[in-house]
Amino acid sequence: MKKVLVVYWSGTGNTETMAKQLAKGAEDAGAEVVIKAVSEAAADMVKEAAALALGCPAMGAEVLEESEMEPFVSGLSQTEVGGKPVVLFGSYDWGDGQWMRDWVERMKGLDAVIDGEGIIAQLVPEEETLTACYEAGKRLAG
Ligand SMILES: Cc1cc2nc3c(=O)[nH]c(=O)nc-3n(C[C@H](O)[C@H](O)[C@H](O)COP(=O)(O)O)c2cc1C
Repeated sequence: MKKVLVVYWSGTGNTETMAKQLAKGAEDAGAEVVIKAVSEAAADMVKEAAALALGCPAMGAEVLEESEMEPFVSGLSQTEVGGKPVVLFGSYDWGDGQWMRDWVERMKGLDAVIDGEGIIAQLVPEEETLTACYEAGKRLAG
């Protein structure tokens, strides 16, 4: 069974809602899914996973959340994520998605195989976005 790891940070629950849909999609497609808030995630989980979904809202000024998510992402190496399918996702509000474009480029720099352009939702994710999360989860399991 393919191991899929979903790691996210969410302050007010919007990104968490997306994370749960991704996990559900991967589970329904037959993967073994581990879903963790980033505070509970560890580097060996990333190593063991065949595919990853990482979620974080736009924080600061178009950056990742700085106390937990940024250190976690900074700690990822090419050895852990290179060649692996990765879905990035997160919620935002007043920006235009710059944090996600930057994050996608950063993960490509580690040779992660990024699914599309990342999945973004303005504040509470709408049904269409949740479906996109579910489908992306299914792809990670495939
Ligand atoms: C401290 C702080 C900084 C934020 N910075 C940005 C930003 O730079 N760009 C943006 O589009 N939204 C920004 N937001 C809005 C959040 O991304 C938005 O509220 C999002 O839905 C939060 O997702 P969550 O419910 O998963 O925590 C910020 C929110 C907070 C609290």
